[in-house]
Amino acid sequence: MNIYSKKVLQHFSNPKNAGTIEDADGIGEIGDPNCGDFLRVFIKVVDNHISDVKYQIRGCPASIACASAMTEMAIGKNLDDAMMITDDDIVNELDGLPEFKIHCSALAASGLQKAIIDYFEKYISSSNKK
Ligand code: FES
Repeated sequence: MNIYSKKVLQHFSNPKNAGTIEDADGIGEIGDPNCGDFLRVFIKVVDNHISDVKYQIRGCPASIACASAMTEMAIGKNLDDAMMITDDDIVNELDGLPEFKIHCSALAASGLQKAIIDYFEKYISSSNKK
């Protein structure tokens, strides 16, 4: 019996939106010091909505599935709603994770939040220069 849900296995074997965005509007980087896994999230923003999300990851199967699911959840959302995506939302989207893998969802949620914060910081600093 597999410890992962069908959705986790689908995202892991066929990750969605992997890659980079050359002219990203925001970039978020996050690592897990306990396991050494690392995630970099790129976002494009149009009219206060996330138009694209991509990511690079060095991580376990659960973290890859979480990053993939996170992109599908975030694309099309306005920035406020995207910022509110939690670890639990991602776990629920994947129909659950084994208890010892729950923490892997934190990378995806935090990486997205950091990318959005990076976007706002760039936006504010460019506004201040005008
Ligand atoms: Fe490190 Fe999954 S074991 S994020």
